[in-house]
Amino acid sequence: MTPAPASTDDPKRVAEFEARIARGETIEPKDWMPEKYRRQLIRMMSQHAHSEVVGMLPEGNWITRAPSLRRKMSLMAKVQDEAGHGLYIYCGTETLGVDRHDLVLQLLSGTAKYSSIFNYPTLTWADIGAVGWLVDGAAIVNQTMLAKASYGPYARAMVRICKEENFHKRQGYEIMATLAAGTPEQHAMAQDALNRWWWPSLMMFGPHDADSPNSGELSRWGIKRKSNDELRQRFVNLTVGQAKAINLTIPDPGMTFDEDTKNWIFSEIDWDEFWRVVKGDGPCNRERLAARRKAHDDGAWVRAAAEAYAEKQARASSAA
Ligand code: 3HC
Repeated sequence: MTPAPASTDDPKRVAEFEARIARGETIEPKDWMPEKYRRQLIRMMSQHAHSEVVGMLPEGNWITRAPSLRRKMSLMAKVQDEAGHGLYIYCGTETLGVDRHDLVLQLLSGTAKYSSIFNYPTLTWADIGAVGWLVDGAAIVNQTMLAKASYGPYARAMVRICKEENFHKRQGYEIMATLAAGTPEQHAMAQDALNRWWWPSLMMFGPHDADSPNSGELSRWGIKRKSNDELRQRFVNLTVGQAKAINLTIPDPGMTFDEDTKNWIFSEIDWDEFWRVVKGDGPCNRERLAARRKAHDDGAWVRAAAEAYAEKQARASSAA
């Protein structure tokens, strides 16, 4: 993100704004807000929307290969939900005065970020279970917090999206539980998926708080109510018991339980891997962008038709 110009906001208005945040007030699109507050929201919300849309790719990969009609229908519903979440959050960015088409072009040009988790491949059907259970599970932890964000449109979007993410997590966990209780080969498939998706899921919460350049402002302005590390710890504490309940092992032999804090103390994340994937050198980064670019090109005729229809309607209404 290009560095914002030094703030030209009226200090008096910034003080009034920050007093509103301190009182727990919700900021609405027509309210005055510091330019940096607006830019931070555009950054975060656009990346979130991109994540929802790109996230359809690894899961859509298995719709034609789902092991039963029930699994196929459940996965189709989930992927459709993700598309809706993306469009919903793009609508949220438009309340901040940006055009979603510009945001999409940033994604297609490779300059916009999306959650690095979606740059990993879905190699077996068990991955669809692991993605629902872990990736949507991590997203729920994060988005439950964002549902209390100071910016009204984003917070309200999260309330609706979290309801659907809960379905996503349940269907994923049920897939994992079914496989884990199946044949030894099925149990091994589920364990392999957990092994491959566990650490990238922890990375979804971002770098450590001390290495998070955005968290300070986001916390001061009530967008982030909890830190990256707090949310990651909450996710780990919630998930370890779920893995044990279906006889799967968290791939972290160094993990210990702290009786005082009741936290599962996990090993250090491979931050070299995290930044490598964020910066574009993950297993599927190129494939994901190529797929998005092809979908955009293939959809050009739809956009052209919609624009032609809108112009025709405008001419008809001005002639009336
Ligand atoms: N993947 C890619 N980039 C990441 C990342 C990740 N997992 N975690 C952090 N980064 C990037 C940040 O975008 C930032 O780069 P930028 O300044 O160029 O944007 C940089 O790393 C430093 O990280 P910070 O901690 O300073 O960034 P944030 O304060 O924005 O925190 C975040 C990162 C926790 C992801 C936060 O942006 C956030 O909560 N975003 C909204 C939620 C979201 O995007 N969720 C996506 C999950 S996927 C999903 O919901 C789909 C569903 O179907 C599962």
